[in-house]
Amino acid sequence: MKKLVAFYFSGTGNTRYITEYLLQKLSKGYACEMVEITSPVDAKRLLSEADILLFAYPIYGSAPPIPMRNFVHGYGKLLRGKKIILVETQYFFSGDGTAALGRTIKNYGGEVIGAEMFDMPNNLADLSIFPVKNGGEIEEKIARARKRADKFAQKILNGRAHRRGFNVFSHAVGYYSQRKFWWKGEVGKRNKLKIDPAACVGRGLCANSCPVQNIALKDKKATPKGECVLCYRCVNLCPKKAITLFGKEPPKVQYKGPPGR
Ligand SMILES: Cc1cc2nc3c(=O)[nH]c(=O)nc-3n(C[C@H](O)[C@H](O)[C@H](O)COP(=O)(O)O)c2cc1C
Ligand code: SF4
Repeated sequence: MKKLVAFYFSGTGNTRYITEYLLQKLSKGYACEMVEITSPVDAKRLLSEADILLFAYPIYGSAPPIPMRNFVHGYGKLLRGKKIILVETQYFFSGDGTAALGRTIKNYGGEVIGAEMFDMPNNLADLSIFPVKNGGEIEEKIARARKRADKFAQKILNGRAHRRGFNVFSHAVGYYSQRKFWWKGEVGKRNKLKIDPAACVGRGLCANSCPVQNIALKDKKATPKGECVLCYRCVNLCPKKAITLFGKEPPKVQYKGPPGR
């Protein structure tokens, strides 16, 4: 059986959830393995051994997240000649969030043989214009994503997967509506994480959970280091709702991830 290795990044669980679901379906045709790119793994060996690669990530401002871009650039030479599937999750829109990484992969000589986008629940918990929902409404959204994953998996197994987001129109919309502006502001946002020292009780949940170790405990207070990759995990996890990133106020409702997680 051919080997498929899925490399994923997931701030708040959506991308991990849909990737796990997809791999369950794909395991009918492939020996599947799933690897988080921010955990210590022998990526070099896995990339070399795999017959098919899958890269999965959430979209941020129509752009792939920093860890996923770094991963692809870091291992770019190993992508030459590889067949690659892209899985992107979003709240509602990215334009060409799949192709945004696909073009980089192509530059390294990889071939994108399938790409899909999945609408998943919002995790921007401190932005009141996008209220976070937990419970029934998100279950419906996730059920729709699972149906989309069923169809996509079947197409991959049949060797005829589509590449959503890979057309000129999607490219233009993704770039001009969001990514152009996102690129300009992204670096500046990395040191904007705010942790209210008065609310912080120093449990260290944020520090232990941050995928890039951007938070340290100093005198029992969580303190950011300025290298945030904007994943919103800590904002949604903090039991005291002491952490904000883009918003001015702490989150009213935190996103707790797909049901059953
Ligand atoms: C910094 C940031 C930027 C985002 N930008 C977008 C966006 O441009 N379009 C969109 O539909 N969703 C956007 N989202 C929502 C996430 O892409 C979506 O909730 C995703 O499924 C989260 O996946 P995860 O749980 O695997 O981290 C953004 C989320 C964050 C944290
Ligand atoms: S500091 Fe928080 S939002 Fe930033 S990368 Fe770490 S967990 Fe994600």
